[in-house]
Amino acid sequence: MNDLGAPSRHFKSNNRKIAEIAATSLTPEKFCRLYGRMIHYFNSKNIVELGTSLGLTTLYLAQSTSAKVNTFEGNAAVADIALTNFESTEAKNIKIIEGNIDETLPDFLQTPQKIDFVLMDANHRYQPTLNYFEWLSKRMADKGVILIDDIHHSPEMERAWQKLKSNELVYGSMDLFRCGILFFDPALNKQHFICQL
Ligand SMILES: C[S@@+](CC[C@H](N)C(=O)[O-])C[C@H]1O[C@@H](n2cnc3c(N)ncnc32)[C@H](O)[C@@H]1O
Repeated sequence: MNDLGAPSRHFKSNNRKIAEIAATSLTPEKFCRLYGRMIHYFNSKNIVELGTSLGLTTLYLAQSTSAKVNTFEGNAAVADIALTNFESTEAKNIKIIEGNIDETLPDFLQTPQKIDFVLMDANHRYQPTLNYFEWLSKRMADKGVILIDDIHHSPEMERAWQKLKSNELVYGSMDLFRCGILFFDPALNKQHFICQL
């Protein structure tokens, strides 16, 4: 493994078994199901996931075949496994973009497309989180949604969450403890909720 994000809480060495990655790094099923339902509810078509890992959450995001998922992963070995998972499930609406998100995301955002739904689950650090939000927020659809995983994972993620919640483009937020949801729909009129799933 070449860790591009914040240091792992679970691993000290760079050698990891796939089973260990699956046991420690992936989104729990109930959240994956929630994300899939949100995509269905909002009828999101253009979806971005930062941090593919083994690609299992990606498959939930790609359940609607009319949606297109662009998923970003910087670790080549892990990306290969995700690709195998996409092929074995015959998911045709997923594109994996390999490389450091610091470089691949600005490249991807060169195309003038509106993004409906984002799951940020890669580099759990303050400045990269702010940077990715800043870049993505300019491309969000009117009723777009950005989900940020692990908002209470560390003091720096806590700080990033508090800052992004009050961003001028954010009209509503929901703190689900594991993740935070930022809504871009002005009709929400700056409402902020804390809920326990
Ligand atoms: C927590 S895992 C993602 C889990 C996945 N979303 C899921 O729920 O199954 C974070 C992933 O982001 C990748 N990552 C971290 N920082 C990155 C960066 N700067 N560029 C590209 N990938 C990065 C790591 O290699 C790791 O596979």
